[in-house]
Amino acid sequence: MALRIIGWGTGAVGREALRAVLDSRSGLELVGVRVYSDAKDGVDAGALLDREAMGVAASADIDTVLALDADCVVYTPRLTSIDEVCAILESGKNVVTTAFLFHPQRIAPVDRDRVLAAALAGGASVHGCGLNPGNLSGALPLALSGMSRTIEKLTLQERADWSVYDSTAITFDNMRFGAPVEEISVTANDFLAFNSAIFTEQVWLLADALRAGIDEVTADVEAVAAQHDHEIFDHVLRAGTTAGQRWNWVGRREGEPLVEIETLWTVGNEYPRHWPKPRHGWTLTIEGDPSMQAHFMSLASFEREASMLEHVNSANVATAMQVVNAVPAVCAAAPGFATIADLPAVRSLIGFGNT
Ligand SMILES: NC(=O)c1ccc[n+]([C@@H]2O[C@H](COP(=O)([O-])OP(=O)(O)OC[C@H]3O[C@@H](n4cnc5c(N)ncnc54)[C@H](OP(=O)(O)O)[C@@H]3O)[C@@H](O)[C@H]2O)c1
Repeated sequence: MALRIIGWGTGAVGREALRAVLDSRSGLELVGVRVYSDAKDGVDAGALLDREAMGVAASADIDTVLALDADCVVYTPRLTSIDEVCAILESGKNVVTTAFLFHPQRIAPVDRDRVLAAALAGGASVHGCGLNPGNLSGALPLALSGMSRTIEKLTLQERADWSVYDSTAITFDNMRFGAPVEEISVTANDFLAFNSAIFTEQVWLLADALRAGIDEVTADVEAVAAQHDHEIFDHVLRAGTTAGQRWNWVGRREGEPLVEIETLWTVGNEYPRHWPKPRHGWTLTIEGDPSMQAHFMSLASFEREASMLEHVNSANVATAMQVVNAVPAVCAAAPGFATIADLPAVRSLIGFGNT
């Protein structure tokens, strides 16, 4: 029998996830959709996903969605809510999410305990993953570490220019690109604090899974001002405002850096001279015996012509598929937390078209 899925959020990532659910070979069935905007309330899910009408009406009413019978919720809102996730878990539905809960053991104990109690009460499990945080900062390094004799330091660098990322609410409202540089800090607003916390959690995940015995993870950010104005979709990023954010989350044991995630993010494509210059995309370096390096990028295709928007969207597809492909394993997992380190390697369900 197909696993029944609710989509919670129909943004760039959520839509890609739900289109995969609609694939008749997926072994998944879409039974509900939670939306936030009034404009989408009551709209048929098919219309939201550029597909034929399918008789599943999206709803902005949480109770209506929670009352549905479903095996798993694909949770991809812009802003997360522990209350919502607890209610979903308590209602007996598993949760896969691209937004948070990547390593719930290391979130604030009060939240951790609530999520765990809700999962146990509902007999459900919760799994957070995606691209980064997710596969590249979790599954991939853990897989490569299988070839390590010793590890001195593990570093993941993400270099990306966000100018072509069309979730501009995240770029400008949440990440505060375009704001004065002095307004960018780890605790400047709830979202930056939240964003920093999820990468901090990811460093803990790797360190815990590799038994690195770190005693702290520090977070630092350097904001860099734009030299020129830039038009980014319907926004203008003004010269002098934030166009670059370099974040470093470093896990240390007795002061020695062992695990680091560094993001080198720009909007407007002005790359600060003094920043490190890995290739665009993600570079994973494991210094040790042996020392290893892997560079990752996703595109719409390496063979056919594709627009920049299609190429950029490939990262949304990757993010979405990482959790959609995990659904059967998460539904089968013991109630509680099912992290990247706990689940068997997540692999494509129907990539080659077979059922
Ligand atoms: N782990 C990773 O690698 C990775 C990569 C990319 C994104 N993400 C995360 O995945 C999530 C989805 O990203 P996205 O690019 O799809 O974002 P997006 O395109 O901005 O989608 C936003 C979604 O959030 C909903 N929303 C609107 N107002 C909201 C509110 N007040 N509270 C909560 N949700 C609200 C929107 O609902 P309506 O459409 O109904 O208005 C929409 O479905 C985000 O949390 C993002 O940070 C993770």
